[in-house]
This record gives sequence, C-alpha cells and structure tokens, in this order.
Amino acid sequence: MKFICAKNTEEAGHIAAEIMAEVIKERPDAVIGLATGSTPLDMYRALIDMYLSGELSFARVRSVNLDEYVGLSPTHTQSYARFMRENLFNLVDIPEENTYIPSGISDNPREECLRYDRLLDLLGRVDIQLLGIGNNGHIAFNEPDDCYPKDTTLVTLSESTVRANSRFFDSPDLVPRQAISMGIGRILRAKRILLLATGEGKAEILERSLFGKITPTVPASILQFYQGELTVVTDPAAFSKIRALHPEVMG
Ligand code: PGA
Repeated sequence: MKFICAKNTEEAGHIAAEIMAEVIKERPDAVIGLATGSTPLDMYRALIDMYLSGELSFARVRSVNLDEYVGLSPTHTQSYARFMRENLFNLVDIPEENTYIPSGISDNPREECLRYDRLLDLLGRVDIQLLGIGNNGHIAFNEPDDCYPKDTTLVTLSESTVRANSRFFDSPDLVPRQAISMGIGRILRAKRILLLATGEGKAEILERSLFGKITPTVPASILQFYQGELTVVTDPAAFSKIRALHPEVMG
C-alpha cells in the first residue's frame, strides 16, 4: 500500500490523473475503471487538460464504471451515465461505444447485473480501478453488510448513503434507494487500484478501513487483503488520522 498525501484536493486530483495517464500511455487500449462522486472531479479536470494539451488520448481506451442508480435513465441529471458524459466522456476523445456503465433502467436489474459481469469478463482484468470511499466505508455502492458481494449486485443503499447523496437531489425523497454495483470480488480483480479520498469527513473511515479490522461492516477494509498495487491519494485533511495514528506511513 502506497500513500501519497498531496498539498490540497486539487493537487490530489492532479496526482491521481498522472497515475491514470501513466497506465494509458503504457497501454493505449487499457481498461480503466472509473468512479463518480465529488472526489474524482479534480482528477477528471486534470485528465481533460492532458487531452486538450495533446499529451493524452483516450481513443482506444475502454472504461467501466462501478455503479448506477436503479430507476434513473442515462439522461437523468443525477444518473452516473450523465455524470460521466458531462465530466469526462464528452470532453475527451473516448469513443462512446467504449464506455460501459450498468443500466439503471433495465426491466430486470438482476439480469442487468449478469449482463454487466459478462461484459467485465469479456473486457478482461481492469488495468487500473479508481475508487472513492463513502463515509460509511462503502466502495462502489457495496454497503456495510455481513458479507462481501463477489459479483455485480442489486444493492439497497444505506440510510447514510442516501443522506450523503441527497445533496445532489432537490429532496432526499428523490434519491434512488437501489443501485447496481460492481461487486467487491470484481473490484479486487483489478491489476491496480487507485483510492482517492479528500476532505476531513473521510479521515476517520480511511484510517479505519486501511488499518482497522477487516470486516464487511467496513467494506473498504477488504483492500487490506488486495494483492495488486494499491495507491492511496489523499489531501492533508483526509490523511490527518492516519498521520496521527500511524506516523510510520508517510505520504
Ligand atoms: P464522494 O463519494 O466522492 O461524493 O464523497 C464517494 C463515494 O460515495 O464513494
């Protein structure tokens, strides 16, 4: 596990973008795993700048997203399909047909989970998977539970996630209660994982996940068992608890 503590959130985004870009430059048809939420926005802006300056091309890249809300169409303002188009896909040269996100409006969400897993099998191992972390330790929408879901699943969002995400909706009642989420087993198959966490609100859960007990009640704690290369990029606020309790880990 490698820690990088940037000077601020913007620099954390730049550093994360550099790591992602390095993978794409090495393998122009890389499969990159992407995430939504507030945290990766600086990273996406930095990747767009690299594309605009001619430094980076996504022309052969394939992307897979972690999750999507059930019930939101790809054009809904809060769907993750739209988030990805507005914050990355429409602003770089990635072909639309190379971008994969679970459908939130399948008539049969369980069948959609199976379809997504078949697609992941066809694409092969993800070269680098970006992850955020929820306030409750979720990764993708894998919520605290008594087991780790292996494959893509239909999940019920926890109250704390609904509350956290209600900031994006006009009212908490409008936040979907279910989502399709790539399973933990699938996430751990990635060759490399980039965990991005910024802000004071993530300090405690980040420390608990990466140094505490490994338990499905803190889903991100499974990352302690991850066999590939895990890079954790933070800002000073998110890193504060790790810095205080584990001074041997310097980023
Ligand atoms: P955030 O979400 O980036 O908006 O904090 C992270 C997550 O819930 O995984």
